[in-house]
Amino acid sequence: MKRPRITAVISGRGRNLQALIAAVADGRITADLTAVLSNRADAAGLDYARAAGVHVVVVPHDAYADRAEFDFALAAALRAQLPDIVALAGFMRILGADFVREFEGRMLNIHPSLLPKHKGLHTHAAVLRDADAEHGATVHFVTPQLDGGPRVIQGRFSVNAHDDAQSLAERVMTDIELKIYPQAVAWLARGELRFEHGQAWFRGRPLTEPLTLNDLEPAFR
Ligand code: GRF
Repeated sequence: MKRPRITAVISGRGRNLQALIAAVADGRITADLTAVLSNRADAAGLDYARAAGVHVVVVPHDAYADRAEFDFALAAALRAQLPDIVALAGFMRILGADFVREFEGRMLNIHPSLLPKHKGLHTHAAVLRDADAEHGATVHFVTPQLDGGPRVIQGRFSVNAHDDAQSLAERVMTDIELKIYPQAVAWLARGELRFEHGQAWFRGRPLTEPLTLNDLEPAFR
């Protein structure tokens, strides 16, 4: 099998991107990260990409008249990379249905909540507002429903009385996101994870519930 080509799409800090770069570099993800796309030229994550020698493409969303035009330009830039896997890694724009359908089945996203709870922005504040007992993050296949595609893996922890939105964000990132995203991309690269008939499949079985931290391979813990 040829080595899959990954393109990551970011908007910001790029901690998830850094984790993907590290996992490709040390061979845990058996694929090549061939490009990083960003809708912001000032995304800090682009520096990690450049430092790792990864090709960088900026498609500035504010240079386009509307979302459809931006989507069109971003899709063209993405298509040009011939990606087998598209990893949205802190990409903060909503993608239109045509865009999503073109890459459906090979596009993953990481979202900082226990989906289907708290779709969209400000998830950590929402957890505190609702006095949730647990919080976490979810990797899912991207479908036209915002943060609504089939879930692949979800990591969770108990919210503490002294947690604030900042501590939750840090715990979600460090304890959950940076582990589950490289693992999910590694499974997709190996063909152990698939998207078929609108569902996520893992090692030949449909995932009715997402995988958990217990399913992480030792190298990803
Ligand atoms: C992460 O919390 C991710 O789940 C969300 O946006 C944030 C991006 O952080 N989609 P980073 O750019 O990976 O540091």
